[in-house]
Amino acid sequence: MALLSLRAILLTVAIVSTFIQSSWAKPLGTGIHKHHSLDTWFLVTEQSSYVISAAGNGYLVNMHWGKRLTQLDDLNAMVVEPPVFSQIIPVTEAREELPVFGGLRYRENILKVELPKGIRELNLQFAGNANITDKTKLDLDLRDGNRTEFLVTLHYEIDIENDIIRRSYTVRNGLDDRVDLSKASSAAWHLPYALGWDEQRELVTLSGEWSQEAMVQTTRLSPGVKHTVESTRGFADHVSHPYFALAQVPNAVNPTTDVYFGALAWTGSWEITIHTDTKGFVRVTGGIHHQDFGWTLEPGESFTTPVFAAGYTDQGIPGARHRMPRHARKYQKKNVATQKDENVFHPVLYNSWEAVSFDLNEEKQMALAEKAAPLGIELFVVDDGWFGVNSPRDNDTAGLGDWDTNPKKFPNGLKPLADHVHKLGMKFGLWFEGEMVNPDSDLYREHPEWVFHYDGVPEYLSRTQLVLNFGLKEVRDYIFEKVAGHIKEAGIDYIKWDFNRPMQGVTMHNYDRNPQEAWVLAVEGYYEIIARLKERFPHLWFESCSSGGGRMDLGALERTDQVWTSDNTRPDARLFIQYGASLWVPPRMQYGWVTDSSSDKSIEIPLSFRFHVSFMGSLGLGSNINKFSKEQLEESTHWIALYKKLRHVIQNGDLDWLVPPSRVGELVAVTESIYNDGDEAVILAFRHNSPFPDSGELSPIRIRHLDENAIYRVTIWQEDPQNPVDEYDLSGALLMYRGLELPSLNKGMFKSAVVWLQRA
Ligand code: DGJ
Repeated sequence: MALLSLRAILLTVAIVSTFIQSSWAKPLGTGIHKHHSLDTWFLVTEQSSYVISAAGNGYLVNMHWGKRLTQLDDLNAMVVEPPVFSQIIPVTEAREELPVFGGLRYRENILKVELPKGIRELNLQFAGNANITDKTKLDLDLRDGNRTEFLVTLHYEIDIENDIIRRSYTVRNGLDDRVDLSKASSAAWHLPYALGWDEQRELVTLSGEWSQEAMVQTTRLSPGVKHTVESTRGFADHVSHPYFALAQVPNAVNPTTDVYFGALAWTGSWEITIHTDTKGFVRVTGGIHHQDFGWTLEPGESFTTPVFAAGYTDQGIPGARHRMPRHARKYQKKNVATQKDENVFHPVLYNSWEAVSFDLNEEKQMALAEKAAPLGIELFVVDDGWFGVNSPRDNDTAGLGDWDTNPKKFPNGLKPLADHVHKLGMKFGLWFEGEMVNPDSDLYREHPEWVFHYDGVPEYLSRTQLVLNFGLKEVRDYIFEKVAGHIKEAGIDYIKWDFNRPMQGVTMHNYDRNPQEAWVLAVEGYYEIIARLKERFPHLWFESCSSGGGRMDLGALERTDQVWTSDNTRPDARLFIQYGASLWVPPRMQYGWVTDSSSDKSIEIPLSFRFHVSFMGSLGLGSNINKFSKEQLEESTHWIALYKKLRHVIQNGDLDWLVPPSRVGELVAVTESIYNDGDEAVILAFRHNSPFPDSGELSPIRIRHLDENAIYRVTIWQEDPQNPVDEYDLSGALLMYRGLELPSLNKGMFKSAVVWLQRA
């Protein structure tokens, strides 16, 4: 492709905008619109516009992504053409929607294929077909000019009220020969050019590790530096979560709070890259990790990438924090039958894993259930350790894969316990880790070939277990029938599905296709099991767990009822974890358990503080209630009752962090759940430590999103769930502009408060 004609990509953008200016001056409504004569599409959400055009020589480029354009004339001002010298290559600079490997493209690409005759370069242009459905979906076909049978269809779907665009694409092989994909990321996003040299962008990512999930990391973008966040472990992982936000850093003269943010809907290995140059060109790409990825398309076959959803807000990180969780919840409601009704709340659950670990049997669990029910618990979950006949699951070295009830622990199966739990008025839940097997298990002894492995290569254990190949139908069918059998027989209402080690040896045997497809097949196998279980048992709730928060990506959020955020239930640690996870996980999907946990036994954290931290999403209890005093049991009952009074606000509202948790200085954190256009709010305030006398005081907390003209009833609880420490009326204006005072939090360690604001 000659340099000159590629340069035209950018020039054309400028020409197109002139056309538009004169042809269409009517304000645009929300939805997807095509220009009446040009190959230009406008994706308009409530507060943003995303404009793409192939109107030049057919290369599909982004013309605008940002605040909503009210007139198409506005476009003219949006187009910037960088200068072209011999070393500046237009197609590399172009904001291509699908930058491929090939031609003079030297920035991050998102699609690499091997065509017949070993050709590995592509050149895709708009093929003339565009399809808009329901004003919210757009499909655009791109073809490789010389190979008209190689077709890529870009998919766009807009979430109008959350200002989010969902992107993916399908590659179709219409050639007579096979095509091999070695990279198929879902989307490339382009941010507007920087306004000036002093303009800075801050990248927000979420990297941590097991028991320290979703730590918010911030990095300034530097010209020429590429950032990658990723998981190569076969699952979404704790080490990073598939999310990014890019925030404009406001300065004294430019107070902008523009934020671009996105999340990947993929529960396997993934990567997101962010690259910037000296001109402030920022490209974000993301999708399935290309390391060891491979997919072969035989003639007539196609491959569709997972969704990469991204949005824009001018309301800073708080705006992004409202939008992505709402988006996840919207698609959860769409896809998950048990989640459709707003008025069905997540039950208060009890799980004894932290209290008794593997030490469980029918009698002990029944006794716990009898203690849990009067506290107000609505769901009783039996965790790891209930199964294994020849290799009993008494610790984590044996039994995984043998999904038969341990006859010593449950001599009559699970039904008596499930019936007992039901009789006590609670739902019954059970733990599985269906994709795993211990070598010490009947399943592995019978089917060693069912685990991911290479012949002759060691099978590396992690948590003494191996990963089953869920790409194999016979494996999925076997596990499905085992799980389904228990659900039917015992009457199980809820499944906690765990995944406790990374993948290795990922390949297919006796498979007449590309063995590298295993990475994708394994994830699809997980999705299939969820879908099959939910189809067979429409009432069944499904929790996505993975050694804590290793599986809480958008793909899991859109298919399941809830996620387990972290194995670290120490409440002060949990504040940081919940702070990060709340960037994309809807509040109701995020469970917090009140436990006895603290890595430092010398620290006494009051029960009230533990409950208040767990109030932030859906509430669980994981303490050893056998050891609770009468007072602790009573206190728990009242906290649970209070939570139930407030949960419509917490579970259906939006979460804001009025004070983010900080590791230095004032160790405080304050959240606000805001509900129904400011009718009600719940404030959770924590002041957990300050080494400095007369410092670390909570300043008046300025509440957000209230009605300034309304009067609110303010009720405050601290250590006693039955007796509020204060109750009074204040105007919305005062609460928002002067702030709520909580002076009693300023003395002592681990102080906290729950505040309920109700429009009078
Ligand atoms: C890891 C989970 O995160 C825990 O909650 C618990 O279910 C254990 N696995 C059981 O092995």
